[in-house]
Amino acid sequence: MIVNLETAIAKLKAGEVVAIPTETVYGLAADASNDAALQQIYAIKQRPADNPLIVHIADANQVDAWASEFSPLAQKLARAFWPGPFTLVLPAKPQVSSTLRASQPTVALRVPNHTLTLKLLKHSGLALAAPSANKFTQLSPTTAAHVQAGLGDDVPVLDGGACQVGIESTIVAVQGDDWQLLRPGMVSATRIEAIAGKPAVKFNQAIKAPGQHALHYSPHTRMLLVPGRDALIALANNSTAALLIGEGVLPDCVHFQLNDHAPDVAQQLYSTLHQMDALGKELILVEAPPDAPEWAAILDRMTRAAS
Ligand code: TXA
Ligand code: MG
Repeated sequence: MIVNLETAIAKLKAGEVVAIPTETVYGLAADASNDAALQQIYAIKQRPADNPLIVHIADANQVDAWASEFSPLAQKLARAFWPGPFTLVLPAKPQVSSTLRASQPTVALRVPNHTLTLKLLKHSGLALAAPSANKFTQLSPTTAAHVQAGLGDDVPVLDGGACQVGIESTIVAVQGDDWQLLRPGMVSATRIEAIAGKPAVKFNQAIKAPGQHALHYSPHTRMLLVPGRDALIALANNSTAALLIGEGVLPDCVHFQLNDHAPDVAQQLYSTLHQMDALGKELILVEAPPDAPEWAAILDRMTRAAS
């Protein structure tokens, strides 16, 4: 059911869940300080309890309410990339709910870059825990219609249009003046390194890397990631649907085409896969993009969707 901003705020304050738009993907949101509300997120998503949630905040001033350390490096990264598709994993204050952080010693924080959701955060005064608004392991939603198709019409959705970035945020853990990439996203490791002034490290003590489950971000139809156009042409037939990156035609096979500009492909990747999935073909073929830094996050999501 589609709800307006006022209703969304009322429901969230009452401890209910609401799907909200962000620039990356739609999130299934709940009051991050209300454990009963958080339990509903895990239940609706059928998400394992050992997978922590990202807390969405209105601005960097709210970090101190959640994190025990907001180091100069973390502050620098927040200034550079917030609001935006960038999540910081910081040491958590001891009072932060263990349901939220799945018993990790850290908490994940992000200021999303979406006008309506920033309004929601500011007007409600809430911090919102929100994982992607899809069932565990399924394709992430980038429109309100995707959320409704995936989670059913009982879940209230604040419709903020199609997501402009299209794939999930970059996740970076910061401890003191060191950083580690936990999930690639459209804020590239190269840009982070430039702001940080130093390369990523691997922390000794295991920080639980997100998205470790092999099966992730998957359409229902079997999907194959194919290296190069010739290989794709060799596999295409009338029981397949193909996704081409860049120009060209593919006779005898339903195909979708995205231009070869990485931000455009990211923006349209999930919605194209949702459409291809709906065709009910035997196999989805996806042309692998170049192995270059600006494609890293897209390649990551394609590889997971195909696993
Ligand atoms: O773009 C996004 O990040 C979207 C929108 C809604 O903000 N959210 C999203 O949430 O992708 P989710 O739950 O689907 O993925 C968040 C990932 C999970 O894989 C989780 O393991 C990781 O973030 N995560 C959350 N808290 C963490 C923590 N304290 N330490 C390490 N990883 C954490
Ligand atoms: Mg997700």
